[in-house]
Amino acid sequence: MSIQFDPQDKTITLHTRQTTYQMQISDTGHVLHLYYGRRIDGMCLDYLHILTDCGFSPNCYENRLRRQVSQDILPLEYSAAGCGDYRVPALECVSAQGITGADLRYVRHEITGGKYRLPGLPAAFAGEGEAQTLSLVLADQATGLEAELLYGVFEAADMITRAAVFHNRGKAAIRLDRASSLCLDIPFDGDWDLLHFHGRHCMERMPERVRLMHGIQSVSSRRGASSHHHNPFAVLMASDATRTQGACIGVMPVYSGNHRTDIEVNQANAIRVVSGLGGDLFSWQLEPGDSFHAPEVILCHTDGGLEDLTHRYHAFLNRHVIRSPWRDRVRPLLINSWEAMTCDFDAEKVLKFAGEAARLGVEMVVLDDGWFGTRDDDNAGLGDWWANEKKLPGGIRPLSDVIHGMGLKFGLWIEPEMVNENSDLYRAHPEWVLAVPGRKPVMARNQLVLDMGNPAVVAHLYGVFSALIRENGIDYIKWDMNRNIADAHSAALPPHRQLEASHRYMLGVYGLLDRLTGEFPEVLFENCAGGGGRFDAGMLYYTPQIWCSDDSDAIERLTIQAGTAVGYPVGTMGAHVSICPNQQTGRTVPFGTRAIVAMSGTFGYELDPAQLSEAEKRQMRVLAERYRRFYDVIHRGLYYQLADPGERGDFAAWAFVAADGGQALLNLVVTRTHANTHGIHLRLRGLDPEAQYRLAELIVEGCDRPDGEYLGGAGLEGRVFTGAGLMYAGLTLPPMRGDYPGVQLLLERMDAEAL
Ligand code: GLA
Repeated sequence: MSIQFDPQDKTITLHTRQTTYQMQISDTGHVLHLYYGRRIDGMCLDYLHILTDCGFSPNCYENRLRRQVSQDILPLEYSAAGCGDYRVPALECVSAQGITGADLRYVRHEITGGKYRLPGLPAAFAGEGEAQTLSLVLADQATGLEAELLYGVFEAADMITRAAVFHNRGKAAIRLDRASSLCLDIPFDGDWDLLHFHGRHCMERMPERVRLMHGIQSVSSRRGASSHHHNPFAVLMASDATRTQGACIGVMPVYSGNHRTDIEVNQANAIRVVSGLGGDLFSWQLEPGDSFHAPEVILCHTDGGLEDLTHRYHAFLNRHVIRSPWRDRVRPLLINSWEAMTCDFDAEKVLKFAGEAARLGVEMVVLDDGWFGTRDDDNAGLGDWWANEKKLPGGIRPLSDVIHGMGLKFGLWIEPEMVNENSDLYRAHPEWVLAVPGRKPVMARNQLVLDMGNPAVVAHLYGVFSALIRENGIDYIKWDMNRNIADAHSAALPPHRQLEASHRYMLGVYGLLDRLTGEFPEVLFENCAGGGGRFDAGMLYYTPQIWCSDDSDAIERLTIQAGTAVGYPVGTMGAHVSICPNQQTGRTVPFGTRAIVAMSGTFGYELDPAQLSEAEKRQMRVLAERYRRFYDVIHRGLYYQLADPGERGDFAAWAFVAADGGQALLNLVVTRTHANTHGIHLRLRGLDPEAQYRLAELIVEGCDRPDGEYLGGAGLEGRVFTGAGLMYAGLTLPPMRGDYPGVQLLLERMDAEAL
């Protein structure tokens, strides 16, 4: 059993393969958090907490004479405001009678097989025997508010999911102002750092590691989306932890809207992490008898360093979060029209584009923005999801039929959540947008945001998009969201519920995604929000891939993709080869190097093949074949970031190693070229130390020396290496001249007979 209750010492212990999580019900009914870390069996860990009388830290009434027992100091499993714990609260609430906060005490718990579900929300799922659930109910007597803490214990996957459900069992309404899914108290144990992922449009998820300071640090978004600016994923790292060793705790919300994770270091140097819904843009009115589900957080602990944490999240998201059947299929090699034509196209141009692409090994054409309503630029048309007949006479179907006739799949771009003022939808339903009465709306990209919390809006969109997909033979949908929310005010909600609008918005988006992906499981959905503005585990539940960034420059992508891959599997990252000079940066990178970078993602093109040279076209055919050949090791292998783009300055390197150690693909891109250098030295990881490996392939791109000569220079030709040699001594590649040259190097384990 991975969840155990010991009636003697009143502990509840959760075990995964390598971790233990323990809590204890105290004699006052407070649930204490005892431990989360490396696995420890058969032990009550309550001796860890030394009780001291700590000035200005109060006692609950029952402990008024035991001044050393303070709820302000003790590690608590879930703590609310208003009960004498001054640390950042997991729950903030006020009842209609004016009672603020909650004094949460143990009521009951239940252990069941399988994984709990969260109605209307994305959440990890488990197959038969893969998870157990703990439901732990705490309640506040004064208001009748129950907080049901949910724990999903995935023993083999080494993960624990957390969520919370609030039930109003009282007689008066209760307003939740903060409803966290997770509260985690970590006792003082040396210094810790926070690794978080900040960014901006066109430069998402840049890792930043900072030392935790006393007081509160936050990872949050108030933009109505998980955002380009601060991804919800955060990692606590012991200050001596590195990529390959040391304690790390990951906190990954399964949510795509406003989020907030607070990390507090208190007077005892202990850490509290609180994650979930909260902040000035959230509240929820809970009428007597009502329940509210707070979204899930995926928690992971490892002593094996950041890389091990990454491997666990990748495996977990791939197996327990992404539910599209496309998860396990080779994704079609696509070409997207956006950077090639923006909104400027007609049927003839699209068919020429498709025909050329088909000859070059592409398998799917995606028609991006511009095919609908009066959309000639981004000032009009959103909301009018019928084909622009001037550009596409007869609509989408004839185009889709001809493209299918070429042996290609066909995909479309949509932006369901948005509307332009200049659209028939807005003219018919101005009340369907989020807007503050009496104020001019805040505009972005000259568009407004639909009130996705209004069921009438979602019903309309469902009708429109289900028909669009069904009637036009659509194989792929790119679902975009191109602005953040500013006026989170819904005409469909009464005044006292206005702060529910942002979360209701997300529930509406999830509801629509659920219906459409459920009805069309064969359609491949790719998520997007101006690139990676909603790259989170919530979206991955519905869409197996997300356009990683609107920055398609391969050198910028090295940073963006490495940052993204700390938490999210490479197979989820939409990545394309685009034209050079790059449209975002003006940089020119060799075609083959661009392909190396895009291949460590979903791989596709974002260019007009007619603009390519004959040599580049030949290369596209070669790449189509290489993409398939390397697919398994990239998408199912373990990912190792060997050198960060920013770390050593001159190159980025990363590798994929097949789970059985049989194959390894090393990727390297030189980001700065110098004269008189002495080669590039790297150590691989994850190989079988005992095994012998041969160099099965060496591909050199953008270097002024041809492959064969380079290989000779490397002294690698015909060599046999041991795994131990490649990992402990490493590999030295000769210096590379040219602008942004790149290398792909495939190593294969030799079986006994071949030796
Ligand atoms: C966003 C997307 C792009 C493209 C445009 C179209 O910026 O990220 O890939 O689809 O919208 O307007």
